[in-house]
This record gives sequence, C-alpha cells and structure tokens, in this order.
Amino acid sequence: MHWLERIGLSPRGQARIAALSDSHAERLAEIHAGAFARPWSADEFSHFLLDRGIRLDGLLIGRDPQPSGFALSRVTVDEAEILSFAMARAVRGRGYGRALLAHHLQTLAHAGAATVHLEVEEGNAPALAVYTRLGFAKSGMRPGYYARPDGTRAAAVSMTRVLRPSGPAEPG
Ligand SMILES: CC(C)(COP(=O)(O)OP(=O)(O)OC[C@H]1O[C@@H](n2cnc3c(N)ncnc32)[C@H](O)[C@@H]1OP(=O)(O)O)[C@@H](O)C(=O)NCCC(=O)NCCS
Repeated sequence: MHWLERIGLSPRGQARIAALSDSHAERLAEIHAGAFARPWSADEFSHFLLDRGIRLDGLLIGRDPQPSGFALSRVTVDEAEILSFAMARAVRGRGYGRALLAHHLQTLAHAGAATVHLEVEEGNAPALAVYTRLGFAKSGMRPGYYARPDGTRAAAVSMTRVLRPSGPAEPG
C-alpha cells in the first residue's frame, strides 16, 4: 500500500519524502517566500541543512527532483519545535501537507522527541486544520505576536502534541 493511503489519503501523483541537501536550498527559500511575510534566504536553509539539531523533511512530487513542500524542526533532547512548515501554493489543499507533517512527526519521534511544540497565527485555517487533525492541542495564546504586512498584529496560538515513544505519528 502506498504510504499516503496508509494515513487515509489517496496518492494524487506519486509523492515521496526525501532527505534534502544543499542543492534544494534555493527551492526551499522560494517555497518559504511564497508562504511567509518574512522570507528566509537559501543561505539560511543551507545553514539549517548543516545543523545537527535540525530535522528537515521535503515532499517531492512526480519527477520533480526539487521539493514541493517542507517541514523543519529543531530537536533539543526530548522536545521538538516546528520552526517552519509550508507547501508550494500550486499543490496546497491536496492532502500533501498533512501527509508530510505526519511523516515529519515520525522523524521527530525517531530523533528522540517526546513532545512537539509549534506556534501558528490565529486564523490560519489550513494550518490549524492540519495540526488539529494530527493531534495537536492548543496550549496557549500570545496576543500580538505576529506583525502582518499591513501593520496590524495577530495572535499566535501555541500548540503541543505528545508523541508515543515508539508508536505511529497519527493520533490514536
Ligand atoms: C499549512 C499548509 C502547509 C497545509 O498544506 P496543504 O497541503 O495545503 O494541507 P492539506 O491539503 O494536507 O490540508 C489542508 C487542510 O486545511 C483545510 N483547509 C484548507 N483551506 C481551509 C480554509 N480556508 N478553512 C478551513 N480549513 C481549510 C483542508 O480541509 C484540510 O483539512 P482536512 O485534512 O481536515 O480536510 C499550507 O496551507 C501552507 O503552506 N500554508 C502557508 C504556510 C503556513 O501557513 N504554514 C504553517 C505555519 S504555522
């Protein structure tokens, strides 16, 4: 069975999770720039790729050798924080983001994480939907945490997920 089907998705086009290298840094920066107001450069992604505390999973679709999405986290002893998670605009809403994040949680569990934390902008419905479906629960709010391009500020929702020591990443 295809790995997307195992988590309840039909594979719309062959997709796979791959370890990334420096040759992917430019595409990662492009995806990030298409998703967030404050873009990270290719150099910043190159540094992340060399950082032993960082776990970075990419999702590749079809014959494209470059990623269409990524999830990037820092693992410190038994805690992980998701620092960035984005899909290219053209492939959003097809279930790939959820599949990628489910796999990424397994990566974090294998790296020793027992708890995963993240922050997401209040009102980011697609991201909140993915996180909730994957078992994250709200753990707090930070009012005015994000600066929007129009000068207004938005609250951050803090979310946490406890990982089972050796179980699957999908919520039970
Ligand atoms: C968040 C993101 C990575 C999700 O990737 P994706 O491939 O589009 O996600 P999926 O297709 O797997 O799932 C999208 C979910 O959002 C839901 N969704 C999509 N648009 C929505 C909307 N406007 N309102 C409510 N839910 C919505 C879908 O129904 C789906 O939920 P379901 O699995 O319960 O049906 C992607 O939207 C993205 O890159 N956004 C910009 C970057 C970002 O915000 N990252 C998160 C930072 S914390």
